[in-house]
Amino acid sequence: MVGGVCVSFVLWNPAWETGIDSIDEQHRQMLAQIEGLLVAIHDHHPGERLPGLLAFLADYVETHFSNEENQMRGSNYPGLEGHRAIHDHMRAQVEHLLEGYRQKPEVMTEEVVDFLTDWLIGHINDHDLPMARHLLRFEAKASADAPKGLAAG
Ligand SMILES: [Fe+2]
Repeated sequence: MVGGVCVSFVLWNPAWETGIDSIDEQHRQMLAQIEGLLVAIHDHHPGERLPGLLAFLADYVETHFSNEENQMRGSNYPGLEGHRAIHDHMRAQVEHLLEGYRQKPEVMTEEVVDFLTDWLIGHINDHDLPMARHLLRFEAKASADAPKGLAAG
């Protein structure tokens, strides 16, 4: 119960873990930001969290997406182009959100939170998990193919 209103939180689900710590940590941070805004909305003070979340989001779609794209490129991921196109679309949507906030800060509502939550969870399930399976296979193969140390001989 927050501010006299029942809030249903989206809890981190272990099924969303990709097994790649840097990616999972960034996903958790994104969800925590969304939850923080949800609490603030129900507490009738969304304005206190909104600028912080939007600043986080703007940085997230650059640093987190670039991080994933670099890993996909480095491992010759066949789904790179499609995944990057989805990231680009989200980059544009975040830009649209930022512009909307600059013009009408009061229109930011729970639907935006729902949009971000659905996007994040859908994206993890449909795109990040298959990507991570590829990255982990690639890493395992690279370390198996690596020359053995002298001690091994
Ligand atoms: Fe992604």
